[in-house]
Parts: sequence; C-alpha cells; structure tokens
Amino acid sequence: MSGTYADVDRGTDPDEAARWQERVDAWPAIRAYKALTYERCAGAEPVLDVGSGPGVDLVELGGDAVGVDRSMVMNRRAAARGCAVVAGDALALPFADATFEAVRADRTLQHLPEPVEAITECARVLRPGGMLIVADPDQGSLVVEVPGAPACLVDAIRRRRRDRQYRSGTYIRGMPTTLCGMGFDDVRIEARPLVLTDPADAFGIATWGDAAAAEGGLTAAEAAQWRSSLARLPPDQGFVYAVTFFVVSARKSPISSAATDTGGGA
Ligand SMILES: C[S@@+](CC[C@H](N)C(=O)[O-])C[C@H]1O[C@@H](n2cnc3c(N)ncnc32)[C@H](O)[C@@H]1O
Repeated sequence: MSGTYADVDRGTDPDEAARWQERVDAWPAIRAYKALTYERCAGAEPVLDVGSGPGVDLVELGGDAVGVDRSMVMNRRAAARGCAVVAGDALALPFADATFEAVRADRTLQHLPEPVEAITECARVLRPGGMLIVADPDQGSLVVEVPGAPACLVDAIRRRRRDRQYRSGTYIRGMPTTLCGMGFDDVRIEARPLVLTDPADAFGIATWGDAAAAEGGLTAAEAAQWRSSLARLPPDQGFVYAVTFFVVSARKSPISSAATDTGGGA
C-alpha cells in the first residue's frame, strides 16, 4: 500500500486506500504516536495538517484546524467528517506566509522525493514562534521475523521496504539536523514503536516478494518461497513486524532567520 499514498487518486483503488488509512489510524500504537503530535501543538490556533488524508487527525485537533491534501478522494472523506480541507501540494502550500501557529505533517513526507523542500514550505506558512511537528516511521528500524523464511530473504525484503517502497523511507532521522540548520529552536525527537504479530496487518507483506521479483530483485523461486512462508501463517505464531515511529518537533525562531523568512506577509 505504501507507494499508493504518493498519489492516491491515480492508484488502483483510492477508496480502499482511504479505508486502510482509517483502519491503521485506529490501532493503539498509531494512536500513541499521534497523541504525542497533538500534545506538541496543544493550544496553537490555527493548526495546518499537511497530507491530512481522511481527516482523522483534523477531528482530534478540533478548533480551526485546516487540512491540505493532494488527493480529492481523501479530501472528500475528511469533508464528510466535517473537517476544513483544501486541495494542494505539500511542496507549494496554498497559504500566505506566517498563517499558522502550528504545522504538522504525519506520514506524508516519507512519500515525497525531497522532504526538506516540503519542510521549507511548512516553515514559510508557520508564524515566528510557531511549532512544526513531523511524524514518520524510519524504515531503517524495521524488524521482520517470518518463521521458516531464510534470513537472507528476510533481509532482501527489509532492504526493499527501506530503499524502494518509500521515496524517503529514512529521512525522519535527519530532521533534527535539518531543523537545527534552519534555525529552529527547541528541536526534539521522540519515538514510539509499532509491533504487529498478525501478517494480515503488515501492510501487504505477503505480496512484497512478488513485487521484488517483478523488479528483478528476487528470483521467482525466492518470491514463491516468501509467499509460501507467509501463506496461512496465523496471528501470534511467531510473526513479528516492528518499526519505530519518530515525532520530531521544533519551534520556529521568534526572530525570522534567512532560512525560514521568505519575505512575505506577517
Ligand atoms: C499515509 S497517508 C497519511 C494521512 C494522514 N496524515 C494520517 O495520518 O491519517 C499520506 C497522505 O499524504 C497525502 N500526500 C502525499 N503526497 C502529498 C503531497 N505532495 N502534497 C499533499 N499531500 C500529499 C496523500 O494523499 C495521503 O492522504
């Protein structure tokens, strides 16, 4: 499902992509890292949610929170929840400079080839002294255990998840450095784990071998071995999929710096 979220509306089943997102958003581990992002923007008005998806977070944020997402399917779902959303791209946010007291981007920037450009855009629409909150898993932290599958096959699948399934699967670890370099204050990085023990929850993992074979990264025999290792593997029988979500937060300097001041309105 991961590549799907770079361009939901052109995917094979946009409505299913939105439903899957709603399902994942209800998992306790996902709620836990999201709660941290809400804490980091508590009291800020208005808040912008970049890549707001089906609007689950906008409902939680309440108040004057506004979402922006490039997917019309996602935006319709968010609007059906009563949320304020606009169509737009994270790389060219349709808002004036210094509009928001907090800007959050949750599992959005991992889908962009250049997340730092999106961060610069988020900083532009953030008021001096406002909070920036970015959350994403780091795919370099992924642990996978599939009973019966050879370690080299597991490693090949993990590498592909990290390097190919996302455009920027590990950028989040570098965000503190980026934000310090842009002159942000109070830069923090916090972590929350996601641990799954049912292969059916693990983002379509049974299909990843076939996808890797189609790209030439695995042989057909290896792909078949991966499929059969996961076929009919019941929940809680040794399967482990664990990844760390990072929440990076920082305050835009109250004094405009060259990196974040694009010269626009107050
Ligand atoms: C994995 S979903 C996460 C949705 C939401 N933040 C959540 O946690 O439920 C990623 C969202 O980012 C949106 N997205 C991806 N690339 C985008 C871009 N360049 N500009 C705006 N939205 C984008 C997708 O349409 C999708 O709704």
